[in-house]
Amino acid sequence: MKNWDQFLAPYKQAVDELKIKLKGMRGQFELASNPSPIEFVTGRVKPIASILDKAKQKGIPLNKLETEMQDIAGLRMMCQFVDDIGPVVELLRKRNDFEIVEERNYISNKKESGYRSYHVVIRYPVQMISGEKKILVEIQIRTLAMNFWATIEHSLNYKYKGQFPEAIQLRLQRAAEAAFRLDEEMSLIRGEIQEAQAFFTRKKELHQDENSELTNLNGQSE
Ligand code: GTP
Ligand code: MG
Repeated sequence: MKNWDQFLAPYKQAVDELKIKLKGMRGQFELASNPSPIEFVTGRVKPIASILDKAKQKGIPLNKLETEMQDIAGLRMMCQFVDDIGPVVELLRKRNDFEIVEERNYISNKKESGYRSYHVVIRYPVQMISGEKKILVEIQIRTLAMNFWATIEHSLNYKYKGQFPEAIQLRLQRAAEAAFRLDEEMSLIRGEIQEAQAFFTRKKELHQDENSELTNLNGQSE
């Protein structure tokens, strides 16, 4: 029997670290008052029950999990627009704190189910007290519309164990098409949206200046 706490510890550490790092990328865009291609970031370690289910389903022996299950540690980066996804992938490629092992483009190659997302699998070094351990982490980059669809489809998949009734199957296909069109529509008014968002960010900053005393880096009030 596996010691799950021991096995999962580096994965937990990696998810915690990467959440901070990838959220930090968004923070840097805000600081520069540039529209961020990253809307928000989430992360999770796959629950043990799901690891066991998937291992059984894919015929992965438990002693091969480390190399054969790429998504035990998983991060998601959500973007407002499809055109933000390429630049986000490019930012990941330029980083020096991990190595990209594989990229899967399910946006130009949509899955049969209707699923769209860009997947980047990385090898991430975690510093454990026993030494460095490199683990695989899957980063999914997708728009808010792709995320909405995938989240709903995932819950239905769970409920029906992949065997969707025909009516649901049809609805899901139509919903995938609607999500695709939503992304297209939003792209067409991207400029307008970003202008409005920049306006509200400036307004929020102005209010903060009015309502609180300005404090400089030395902690002295101005
Ligand atoms: P998995 O066994 O699902 O990991 O397939 P894979 O090893 O061929 O990798 P793939 O890139 O296809 O999928 C990895 C992950 O993408 C999954 O664990 C899901 O999070 C997500 N995913 C892939 N296909 C679908 C889909 O049809 N619907 C939803 N909701 N998510 C999907
Ligand atoms: Mg996978």
